[in-house]
Amino acid sequence: MAQYSRVSGSVGLITLQNPPVNALSAAVRQGIVDTVKRALGDPEVKAVVIRGQNGVFCGGADIKEFGTNMSGPHLVPMIHAIEAANKPVVAAIEGIALGGGLELALGCHYRVAHSKARLGLPEVTLGLLPAAGGTQRLPRLIGVPAALDLITKGRHITAAEALQLGVVDQVTGHGTVDAAVKFALSVAGKPLDARRISTYPCPRTSDLDALFEGVMQKVRQSARGAIAPIACVQAVRAAATLPYLQGMEREKELMATLFTSGQARALQYSFFAQRAVGRWSTPSGARWDTSKPRPVHIAAVIGLGTMGRGIAVALAQAGLSVIAVETQEKQLMEAKQAVSGMLERGAKRRGVAPALDKVSYSHDIKAVADADLVIEAVFEDMALKRTVFRQLSAVCKPGTVLCTNTSGLDVEHLASQTRNPQLVVGMHFFAPAHVMKLLEVVYGPQSSPQAVATAMQLGKKMGKVSVAVGNCRGFVGNRMLKPYLEQAFFLLEEGATPELVDRALEEFGFPMGVFKMSDLSGLDVGWRVRKADGLAEPVGASGQPARIRQGQRYSPLGDLLCEQGRFGQKTGRGWYQYDKSGGQVASSDPWLHSFLEGYRAMHGLVARRIDLQEVLERCLYALINEGFRILEDGIVAGPEDIDIIYVFGYGWPRHRGGPMFYASMVGLERVLERLEHHHKAHPDVPHLQPCSLLRRLVSSGSPPVHRWREVLKKLNSQL
Ligand code: NAI
Repeated sequence: MAQYSRVSGSVGLITLQNPPVNALSAAVRQGIVDTVKRALGDPEVKAVVIRGQNGVFCGGADIKEFGTNMSGPHLVPMIHAIEAANKPVVAAIEGIALGGGLELALGCHYRVAHSKARLGLPEVTLGLLPAAGGTQRLPRLIGVPAALDLITKGRHITAAEALQLGVVDQVTGHGTVDAAVKFALSVAGKPLDARRISTYPCPRTSDLDALFEGVMQKVRQSARGAIAPIACVQAVRAAATLPYLQGMEREKELMATLFTSGQARALQYSFFAQRAVGRWSTPSGARWDTSKPRPVHIAAVIGLGTMGRGIAVALAQAGLSVIAVETQEKQLMEAKQAVSGMLERGAKRRGVAPALDKVSYSHDIKAVADADLVIEAVFEDMALKRTVFRQLSAVCKPGTVLCTNTSGLDVEHLASQTRNPQLVVGMHFFAPAHVMKLLEVVYGPQSSPQAVATAMQLGKKMGKVSVAVGNCRGFVGNRMLKPYLEQAFFLLEEGATPELVDRALEEFGFPMGVFKMSDLSGLDVGWRVRKADGLAEPVGASGQPARIRQGQRYSPLGDLLCEQGRFGQKTGRGWYQYDKSGGQVASSDPWLHSFLEGYRAMHGLVARRIDLQEVLERCLYALINEGFRILEDGIVAGPEDIDIIYVFGYGWPRHRGGPMFYASMVGLERVLERLEHHHKAHPDVPHLQPCSLLRRLVSSGSPPVHRWREVLKKLNSQL
């Protein structure tokens, strides 16, 4: 809806009303059309101001209307009518002007913004483009390079940047509506011809072709297969090369292609999935809206290695006091320097003072006595972690929440070492912890709703996307990674190269293929875990065949590389070679190729031709199959949890929604059929055996992913 009133005698004030962000629903659009008409028809009114209620101008289109039959007036003619008005229309921008909200403001003749307002055209992040003239008006207003930057990245800008770019005409630190009304009175009666952006020629840019070619190349590289950023460039190119009306036609055509693409659906799904994971629940009945978190002012970190340092930085940046404990003197000294450096660099980037005094250091675990919450990040060694938890239980004040950053060890077992197992949860960060957005909050059967809520809220405060997951080996992300890695190894045995496997995964949209990724994180990490699990024994040590362990097919390839000291980037050699230890540019390694040939010959394996499709099916369907098992085991509440974990923590391309969404787009029948096919070819690989939930979903008609929670509930109640 939009409300109309008259202020200061001759200004028509239109207020958009659709909480929380005054999205442009059909009712709001109708309200705007009606009130603008009224203001323009009222001879007493000399100028018009448009604002949003509750200090928010407009958050853009109403995403809930996407995919439905749109009713009510369309945005394009509505904005055009505002621009064509014969009385000045001023947008009073408070809070946000995003997407359609900014496009509406660009149709106004003037824009006055509050200094704290944020503006942007984020449509590209939903797989779309600003299709209410945004791609045609913005370049005409601020030039092609600046418009391309905003539209292809979907970046939000501050009011100060908007003023500098020329997006707004005035910024005020006080009452925006008062300033806009004053502004409107000052321009009333002045000619408007020079204020209609659609009539502007696009500012001339030298060598337009070279500019677009360069931008297109960069966009293609960073888009990793996403089509919306490319369509954005094409639309801006139309603004730069065609008359306005033809440009609008092009914008419409490009939007139509995007709108019906699977990518837009995936990105919109991801948008809602991110909200869904915030409304977490656990099988024991703990819920986001009923479980009250404990206040956390002082947090402690135990172990200042790779992870502990990043966690300490993220905590300090979130405004908490941090007690950082490290037993090794040398590590402590290095950690102090590293943490301070990270805080300083982060503060410089954000234009704030570094929170150096927020972190205190100690080599004594007793220093954490006053902490409200402790995060343990010592070596991945159960015996060591057990000792640390016993110590923490003895030194911490009653009520302290104890968390572990383990990558996959049993949280429940650690809880059992303490006096208050209900206060123990996992907080599984990802490296580097002050950068990566994902946090898995792991609850055990004894974890109290309050402990889960405390960790979830702390994650939110740290700017993380937090997902509540149940306790199992590897939790969600790493558990699903295991069969994915395993398939990659098997493919090498059967004839593939690391280059081929990585190419398939990178073309799919991962920033890095599995072998480059494993070189980056260090091959020794997995080796240590496999050794602890009794898998990575030297060939023949237990008298079993080299490629079978614990009764299943096993590839010792990773172990063999580690035995040669090839740990990846850190040693300059892994699945690829690097120019030096710590080097980051991977190049093909002839040694590795002859090593693979020798390995195959030794084990009587005949290399066969493997294509990119087989790589994708084997790696991704095995991972997805494990996702179904996770759902079946009740480790997460729904497929959205898994998808968000993979998008935010494992580089799954966002425009493909996440593994479970992807499976539903491919078609569950097809995923099932291909898994059956590959399992038949490799009956000794249990991870390729389709899980029963997948079969049951297929036999209940392959419902779309948003209905799986319902189906899961029904299926579980039938058990
Ligand atoms: P790291 O080896 O870099 O650091 C561990 C640190 O703990 C060392 O500085 C060590 O001196 C210290 N330490 C050992 N015993 C201690 C004690 N009793 N008190 C205080 N400090 C002690 O290990 P990293 O990579 O930081 O891993 C830590 C934990 O985080 C592990 O459980 C790991 O599985 C998990 N993790 C690691 C990720 C990674 O990418 N590195 C990602 C997510 C979780």
